[in-house]
Amino acid sequence: MNNFEFCNPVKIIFGKGMISRLTAQLPAGVKVLILYGGGSIKKNGIYDQVKNALSGIETFEFGGIQPNPDYDTCMKAVELVKNEKIDFLLAVGGGSVIDATKFIASAACYEGEDPWDILRKGAAIKKALPLGCVLTLAATGSEMNERFVISKNDSKLKLGFASPLVFPQFAILDPEVTYSLPLKQVANGVVDSFMHVIEQYLTYPVNARVQDAFAESLMCIIKEEGLKVLKKPNDYAIRANLMWAASNALNSWIGQGVPQDWSSHRIGYSLTALFGLDHAQTLAVILPGVMEYKKKEKKDKIISLGLSVFNIMPNSESALVDETIDAVEAFFRSMGFSTRLSEFGIKENDLNSLVQHVREMNWQLGEHADIDWQAAKEILSLRL
Ligand code: NZQ
Ligand code: ZN
Repeated sequence: MNNFEFCNPVKIIFGKGMISRLTAQLPAGVKVLILYGGGSIKKNGIYDQVKNALSGIETFEFGGIQPNPDYDTCMKAVELVKNEKIDFLLAVGGGSVIDATKFIASAACYEGEDPWDILRKGAAIKKALPLGCVLTLAATGSEMNERFVISKNDSKLKLGFASPLVFPQFAILDPEVTYSLPLKQVANGVVDSFMHVIEQYLTYPVNARVQDAFAESLMCIIKEEGLKVLKKPNDYAIRANLMWAASNALNSWIGQGVPQDWSSHRIGYSLTALFGLDHAQTLAVILPGVMEYKKKEKKDKIISLGLSVFNIMPNSESALVDETIDAVEAFFRSMGFSTRLSEFGIKENDLNSLVQHVREMNWQLGEHADIDWQAAKEILSLRL
């Protein structure tokens, strides 16, 4: 196991009716900006629950944050934060609203000239406004981590950033608020959280038994409950297990002291930016390609995955590896996902533009930092 230092300071408030505990989490006398997305919270009663819980507190609102939040929209919120001298941000939504809120918290305190540098150049941030969240979609783990991903639609770029300064102070997780999600978004959450675990697991063994056992359990739970939720969407226990699993999938716990490979996520950004694929959909297409392309280097972990998560009976080693790759793809398909680029009309002559961001950012991806733009192109060509 590799060395690590670890602290996750996010307070979790979990369960039915827990939005009512909101005010108790806020410092006295704060001006709160409530941030939300396209308005689903106004139709499903979450907005009313939040407003009731905040009665007596001075609040402002900023709605209209898009899925895959856009930089320009975020900057409008930054203006409001500065004009109204807001001192606390409350994200009410899924990963997009929470990510946007983290960026807004950073940009509002940024001393450099252009806040886009935070994403484009990884510019250091020294301060961020405090934030909390009410999660409405179990998927990204953003409610319990220090990462955010922002798009710049005018330049068709999507980029991520991480800083301990943007850990939420608290996250309220009520599984009941996820009942109103379209099943497609529920499935997105299942595949995204499964992928978060796999990208911290599917590398090479470093005898990290705790992390491996946690990761394998999380994948089993997400796979089993994910298949169940499609048939029983209003089952509280299924929703609760999926919600808590998604937070644990990307709250840094399983990633301590182990190598990681985020290549599927990073390569996938341009499938969203250029072709509009949902975040989870990009991953379902790319991961089987990464596994195939790196199957020699990842052999030991692919075998463990096949045995512990997909219950594949050992035959020969190479058959086990191939069957595990097939099983992962079959799982994505059984969750209703397409797994080939051609299913989106994407062709070979689109591949150069799809890896342009890997080239421009000079990314060397994977646990061995050996997936450059050319390797990324080869991976994508396996998925045509
Ligand atoms: O905009 P509203 O009206 O809220 O509708 C949203 C949106 O249309 C809707 N929705 C959310 N909760 C709902 C609901 N509809 C009905 N009932 C509810 N309870 O669902 C749609 C998708 O929401 P979004 O927040 O975009 O989804 P998700 O949580 O999957 O977030 C995706 C974003 O997170 C980033 C992705 O790149 C993408 O931009 N990620 C963030 C990560 C992180 N911060 O750690 C890691 C991830 O790998 C990911 O990259
Ligand atoms: Zn993800």
